[in-house]
Amino acid sequence: MPILPRRGLRRRLALILAPSLLALLLMSAAAQYLLTVRPMQREMDHRLADVAIALAERLGVDGAGRAVFSLPEAAAELLGADATDSNWYAAFDERFVPIAGETALRWPTAAFARGRPHFFDTTLGATRVRAVAVKTRCGDRECGVVTASTLHKRASLIRAVLISTLLPVALAGLLALALLWFGLGSGLRPLVRLSAEVERRSSRDLSPIRVEDAPGEVQPLVAAVNRLMAQLGEAGSAQQKFLSTAAHQLRTPLAGLQSRIELALLETHEPEGRARLADIHESAVRAARLAVQLLSLARAEPGASTADPRVPLDLARLATELVDEWVPRAIARRIDLGFELESAPVLGQPLLLRELMVNLLHNALEYTPPGGRVTLRCGREGGCSVLAVEDNGPGIAPALREKALQRFVRLPGTPGAGSGLGLAIVSEIAEGHQAVLQLREAPGPHGLLAHVAFPAA
Ligand SMILES: Nc1ncnc2c1ncn2[C@@H]1O[C@H](COP(=O)(O)OP(=O)(O)OP(=O)(O)O)[C@@H](O)[C@H]1O
Ligand SMILES: [Mg+2]
Repeated sequence: MPILPRRGLRRRLALILAPSLLALLLMSAAAQYLLTVRPMQREMDHRLADVAIALAERLGVDGAGRAVFSLPEAAAELLGADATDSNWYAAFDERFVPIAGETALRWPTAAFARGRPHFFDTTLGATRVRAVAVKTRCGDRECGVVTASTLHKRASLIRAVLISTLLPVALAGLLALALLWFGLGSGLRPLVRLSAEVERRSSRDLSPIRVEDAPGEVQPLVAAVNRLMAQLGEAGSAQQKFLSTAAHQLRTPLAGLQSRIELALLETHEPEGRARLADIHESAVRAARLAVQLLSLARAEPGASTADPRVPLDLARLATELVDEWVPRAIARRIDLGFELESAPVLGQPLLLRELMVNLLHNALEYTPPGGRVTLRCGREGGCSVLAVEDNGPGIAPALREKALQRFVRLPGTPGAGSGLGLAIVSEIAEGHQAVLQLREAPGPHGLLAHVAFPAA
């Protein structure tokens, strides 16, 4: 599946949804933790308090009214330690000075009422302990008992709860994120497919996108794009029809004009008049060629209404038809024009392919100085049918090749009076045939190699 762009919908949705999902999971983990740990801690506190209350029963007053504490030795030992924690107690007199048990234990500083255990955290030496103080009556005054216990059981309890609540939540979180990511991916797949389909299209393909294939939410967008493409197509074909009609209309009078000038040339013997007529003749020829080029351009454009059907044909045969017309022209320009023709089957429009060859030949003969060499070659190359026109003229600098393909672009310093349409026509026709046009360096010291690779028929 194609990766979505950095600022894609999947990323955005994931960025919006993932934090909420994580917050939800963390909240549920915190709630679970509190709901489990708090009651357990409270339960342990109460056990500690029960011992303190029982010990407080052992406090009394002697005859002199002083607080006394008595506990059988065996009971005191029992209180000492369990398997996990160490436990201590201390009995305090009416001035809250320890009189029995662990005298390092301190009475809490906070005030609290009798009859209610007071829980607090403190230290015994360097050991942190949980403690509870219980007040009782010693005669007409108050005394009390503190019991304390190390935190090992509590710590291991917290660890156990943390592991048993957080681990599943973390795993569920990861799983949820993965599901979210892949869920979004698969949910957005129709969109990705749609964009890939649009991207795959060539600029010539204005056929509507299938609305039924798009997800419901996107169908209006697809329909709008289809409408836009239809409008584009209509505008394009109107413009193209106009161009083709105008060029066609121009061709006939221009041909008439050309033959009339030729007739006049035959009848005129006076040198000055002949020179002037020859000038006019050249302009007429150029105008007629421009009309032909415009017509070719209109025909080669995408969706041309005047397009000929594509037929299986051989580039070699098509090129053979050019020999008679182009060899004399080459001879007139003192250029050695060669044809190296091997079978090159393609599926194409003969008129346009002929036009493609003619424009390449025209350039090669036009820009190669007298004495030069031009070769039109066709054949098969690695599964493609290839047409190449090679010359040993000045060539085109690599940086200017892209530009030379544009319409009405003539490179600076180019001799003659062309319109800059030849290579644009070649490029348009090649594209229309799904062929790849490349302007390359000719293998010689200089020159241009125009190379067109067609998908084999
Ligand atoms: N075989 C070549 N050798 C050197 N330069 C070339 C060759 N073919 C094209 N060029 C350069 O590329 C430019 C564009 O060529 P293109 O055929 O599009 O227009 P043009 O030949 O100037 O005019 P047109 O073909 O419309 O008469 C030319 O002006 C020329 O500078
Ligand atoms: Mg040209």
